[in-house]
Amino acid sequence: MNIALINGSPRAERKSNSAILLRFLKSKLGNDSPVASYHFNRPGNSEYFQELCGMDTLVLSFPLYADAIPSHFFQIMVEFAAYRNRANLQQEILVYVLMNNGFYEGRQCNTALRIVRNWCRRAGLVYAQGAATGAGETLGFLKQTPLGHGPLGNLGKAVTALALNIIERKKGDDILFSPNMPRSFWQFMANRVFWLPAAKKNGLNRKDIYRATAPE
Ligand SMILES: Cc1cc2nc3c(=O)[nH]c(=O)nc-3n(C[C@H](O)[C@H](O)[C@H](O)COP(=O)(O)O)c2cc1C
Repeated sequence: MNIALINGSPRAERKSNSAILLRFLKSKLGNDSPVASYHFNRPGNSEYFQELCGMDTLVLSFPLYADAIPSHFFQIMVEFAAYRNRANLQQEILVYVLMNNGFYEGRQCNTALRIVRNWCRRAGLVYAQGAATGAGETLGFLKQTPLGHGPLGNLGKAVTALALNIIERKKGDDILFSPNMPRSFWQFMANRVFWLPAAKKNGLNRKDIYRATAPE
């Protein structure tokens, strides 16, 4: 069984939370099936379509952008659907999603997963399962935390369930979750580590962030 792990984040591999998720998943897939990794971080990449059509399983990992799919990746998905329909291929390909979003609540990824479901229908692919974590930007700060422990507890369960279904070629319910840390702590850290330093870099202070309109 050939498995393609596809990162659809526009970020470089070393900065991408989607890449971290795919590494976790790969560690749970075992060595029995060949796994090929792709990173489509800009439009194009049609040279890989034939290869992807020969896969048994596609795993898409991408960040939530404006409650949906990053536009460059969506464009690739649309082009891939057209390619597959033109080629009139019958091989059954199962599609799994392992995505993340910036806000705390992973359930915000619901619409994006529905878009993938519809895409599967158009492309003649079989939607099998989606998993989505909120607070994706915390992943890069948790490199020392083993999967399944502490704040990565829910992620560990979801990745293990997804990997098992991928290996057994089974479908499953979507799993949308938040990390195992209080929302208030996540919000405090996001302000401390990200938003306030970003504001400072741009010559703004805490009050400016809370202002409803941009300063003149
Ligand atoms: C243009 C843009 C739009 C975004 N839209 C959302 C959104 O609608 N909801 C959300 O929770 N996070 C949103 N995010 C945050 C990303 O989903 C988040 O930063 C994610 O961890 C990035 O993953 P990556 O490193 O794999 O690219 C957005 C980020 C950008 C840059």
